[in-house]
Amino acid sequence: MTPGGAALELDGVTRTYRRGAVDVPVLHGIDLRIAAGERVAIMGRSGSGKSTLLNILGVLDQPTSGSYRLGGATVFCPPGGGPQLDDRALSLLRRTSIGFVFQSFHLLSSMTVVENVGLPMEYAHVAPEAQRLRAVELLEMVGLGHRLDHRPNELSGGERQRVAIARALANRPQVLLADEPTGALDEKAQQVILELFSVVHQRFGTTMIIVTHDEKVARALGDRVLRMSDGRFAS
Ligand SMILES: Nc1ncnc2c1ncn2[C@@H]1O[C@H](COP(=O)(O)OP(=O)(O)OP(=O)(O)O)[C@@H](O)[C@H]1O
Ligand SMILES: [Mg+2]
Repeated sequence: MTPGGAALELDGVTRTYRRGAVDVPVLHGIDLRIAAGERVAIMGRSGSGKSTLLNILGVLDQPTSGSYRLGGATVFCPPGGGPQLDDRALSLLRRTSIGFVFQSFHLLSSMTVVENVGLPMEYAHVAPEAQRLRAVELLEMVGLGHRLDHRPNELSGGERQRVAIARALANRPQVLLADEPTGALDEKAQQVILELFSVVHQRFGTTMIIVTHDEKVARALGDRVLRMSDGRFAS
């Protein structure tokens, strides 16, 4: 753990996309400290850079410059800025330390619910029996113990998102990242997901970073609400 107990630290993180011959800056030097077990909601207009930031936090993308430390490990740092994890270590970190929940669920339609939740454990080389036990336990926690052998297309949107949350927790991640997790759901399913995030936090103490357009969701899920505008946090 880093001094001060930060689970996650970003310093001067930028991200620039190349469009044709032009470099378009999307993140302009983000500094961020999030404590272990903290819940942070991120809000901001469409195009302000929320998903770009979340993808960097989830090691799905790399910053153009700046550094990122997670649980004491240097995930990214500027050239010459000290030792950084190699590609193999990055992919291990992505699989085991980070859970990601997307607005559109991203479940594999050819697999059953229990197989979807087992998949991250397969990648982490967990033994098959242990995979199934843990998947069933998580699916019971999200209230889907009776849907183990269903396929995603046999479930409602809210149920699919509950499967996705169980899958994100499969390898007991330190950090759970969610990009608009309730954006595709009706009011009632939204409420179920909000309560589930609270249960997960109480039970596992997971650090959570949740992007949302909905003030109500942000208040329900965040100890702290950060607002992004044009690739920066508004003060
Ligand atoms: N792969 C890419 N290539 C080029 N530009 C991109 C890419 N991904 C995102 N952008 C641009 O970066 C900016 C920020 O996008 P981002 O998806 O992070 O916004 P957002 O805040 O998540 O928006 P929304 O609320 O609509 O999801 C936008 O202007 C977008 O067009
Ligand atoms: Mg987005």
